[in-house]
Amino acid sequence: MSDKKVILTTNYNDLSCELPVQTPTLGREVVNIQSLPKQLDVFTHDPGFKATSSCESEITYIDAQKGELLHRGYPIEQLTQKADFLEVYHLLFNGEMPDADTLSALREKTAKLSLLDSSVKAIINAMPESAHPMAKLGTAVNALAANYHDEFDAKSDESRLLAADRLVAQVPVIAANIHRSGDVSCEMNPADGYAKNFLRLFFGEDSATANDETFIEAIDKLFILHADHEQNASTSTVRLAGSTGTDVYASVATGVAALWGPAHGGANEAVLNMLDEIGDVSQVDKYIEKAKDKADSFRLMGFGHRVYKNFDPRAKIIQGICRDVLAKTGGDPRLELAQKLEEIALSDSYFVERKLYPNVDFYSGIIYSALNIPVNMFTVMFAIARTVGWVSHWNEMISGDYNIGRPRQLYTGYTKRDLYT
Ligand code: SDX
Repeated sequence: MSDKKVILTTNYNDLSCELPVQTPTLGREVVNIQSLPKQLDVFTHDPGFKATSSCESEITYIDAQKGELLHRGYPIEQLTQKADFLEVYHLLFNGEMPDADTLSALREKTAKLSLLDSSVKAIINAMPESAHPMAKLGTAVNALAANYHDEFDAKSDESRLLAADRLVAQVPVIAANIHRSGDVSCEMNPADGYAKNFLRLFFGEDSATANDETFIEAIDKLFILHADHEQNASTSTVRLAGSTGTDVYASVATGVAALWGPAHGGANEAVLNMLDEIGDVSQVDKYIEKAKDKADSFRLMGFGHRVYKNFDPRAKIIQGICRDVLAKTGGDPRLELAQKLEEIALSDSYFVERKLYPNVDFYSGIIYSALNIPVNMFTVMFAIARTVGWVSHWNEMISGDYNIGRPRQLYTGYTKRDLYT
């Protein structure tokens, strides 16, 4: 801990306090305010946690100004070029890249754990066919708690790793069963990579998509690009739920719920719906004006980010993947529309002043659509990838010192009063 301090005084009493400043490896220093209530008899107030560090973590770092994303120190650009998704999972969870034997063992383990219990399939099929896939995914992930809670021991490294591996192995199988109404009879093949296994389960053994190297590589890279992103809303939700000591599968199910929102992972589905609503380039100016109009609830989906105040590095990589996939599947007028929208928005002072750039969700849906993945499954794709981030952050917390998360509030309700006087 550095000897830097922040000294706070009030202008309404003679209290003052010294708060220690903690220095990170990268990024902004933080003021540790844990002694503030005792020293100054106040809380801090930060709705939406825009200026609040919730935990110490070594997993991912985002440089907002540079538009840089590091996983255990490795730039996202290098990981998408030189690693595959299971290697990135190992890196996030354990801190280092796996050697060849470890990777091979991880593939074997993932394949073995990918067999979905028939009760989970039955639960998926018991839900209305028309139910949103994210509702089905959250329910099915929570059903894993019904199957495996009794064997789980949070104090055991081995038990935590088994739960994490099972989630990473089974979430894509759950997704495939949701898409194919539970008639996915096979599990993963260790000889194939994670992305190929997913496409095979999702589209069927002999589908052209599951056997096309360009599409397999595109999905593997998209999974890497969506794997983890510091303390985003869904990861923070998993940490908060997990901090009560609740079941790991139940904790991850809360992450699925949080990710579903259109302000978060649900944005990829919202972007495609927005592009279809805009229709063609002639309507772009009208929708840009709607996005700027405070009286209009319309926002440019896939634009803006709580942290990045520069280009989201993932969006740049996804644009390249989009070109590769569309070169094979044939163009999509929505790509041209999206590029036009981006061009006009980035020349408009409203977006420039607010540093609103395309984020990870702006182009990903165009790729999923080109691969015939239904729009309402786009956020499920995000959840498959983000599962490795959720379990890595959950494990980092549970394996270390932590407290139950319990924020305070600024109470503005009634003072004490008597009932029926
Ligand atoms: C993800 O946290 C993560 O890391 C998330 C994620 C991950 O990998 O986990 O990166 C994945 O969730 C990406 C974000 C996907 N969501 C969207 O694309 C939805 C559209 N974006 C917005 O809803 C918004 O930009 C957020 C939610 C992403 C960020 O919102 P903030 O940080 O709370 O910003 P804000 O709402 O305070 O906006 C600041 C200003 C406001 O205008 P003023 O009040 O200053 O006049 O910018 C405006 C906002 O109205 N604004 C937008 C806008 N986003 C912000 N105006 C129009 N369109 C938008 N998209």
